Amino acid sequence: MSLLHKDILGMQQLTIGEIEDILNTAANMKKILTSGNKKTAYLQGKTVITLFYENSTRTRMSFELAAKYLGAQAANISASGSSVSKGESLYDTALTLDHMAADMIIMRHSVSGAPHFLAPRLGASIINAGDGMDEHPTQALLDMLTIKEKKGGFNGLQVAIVGDLAHSRVVRSNIYGLLKMGANVRVFGPATLIPADLAGSGARICHSMEEALTGADVVMGLRLQLERQEKALFPSISEYSQFYGLNEPRIQMARPDAIVMHPGPMNRGVEISGGLADSTQSVIAEQVTSGVAVRMAILYLLNLYRNQNHLGFGESTEPVLI
Ligand code: CP
Repeated sequence: MSLLHKDILGMQQLTIGEIEDILNTAANMKKILTSGNKKTAYLQGKTVITLFYENSTRTRMSFELAAKYLGAQAANISASGSSVSKGESLYDTALTLDHMAADMIIMRHSVSGAPHFLAPRLGASIINAGDGMDEHPTQALLDMLTIKEKKGGFNGLQVAIVGDLAHSRVVRSNIYGLLKMGANVRVFGPATLIPADLAGSGARICHSMEEALTGADVVMGLRLQLERQEKALFPSISEYSQFYGLNEPRIQMARPDAIVMHPGPMNRGVEISGGLADSTQSVIAEQVTSGVAVRMAILYLLNLYRNQNHLGFGESTEPVLI
């Protein structure tokens, strides 16, 4: 049980074996999470830093809690309030953290490829917490853990992903991960929000909500990312909701036991109705808990890799007595 690289940059990089190891370890981490005592010492003496250039609630907090539950020192830095606002570059910022003996840096950045740029230049492990419109691997892994728990596995599963496909790093990471594990992925959204490269991804591009949802085991809504749209790509929010929103009548097209997912944050009444988000078919709350478990698993497995490969700021993994 081990990872093959120092960094977690995307689902494209991970092998089937690595994904299985992460999901199996996360299932064990969930037992710790739901126990009376969440504190462990697996990462005792290690430093985990979250470096976020974009806002976050779920990803950032779950990484911080995951690090703390594993016994690591956890610290946060964001673009606002740091020397980034004085013009310090991403590289210099990350190098500074690296020289503070950070073992793992979890980063979110608006530029696709930013973690790939830093990873070979730092001693710390880099974990991609979302890079531009490229990937959000830990979101896909938490989605996959939730799906595995609810559906028992991935082979032959029909997963429908609906919404703003153009700006979603979540859809890319899920397509890479789910296809690797044997699921089928269909996608549907406004024609103006379907990126050209999706055609070669292996996902089926659907031309109607009915085509996407009929027979689906899993239905995932995506957030409409207005902040990434330089110009309007559809007539109005109400028309978007009318034609592309998930709601209780529409979910009837999916299998009766279909689960409803959303990575959050949700625009209730836009890409998903409040009724559906709060329905018995919704596993959105479980996704949040899976997020902490998956991030605990990733920190744990990366630390194992670092110990096995003698990576670290100092020579020894033992505490130094002075
Ligand atoms: N799903 C997700 O990445 O949420 P946050 O932006 O709150 O981290």
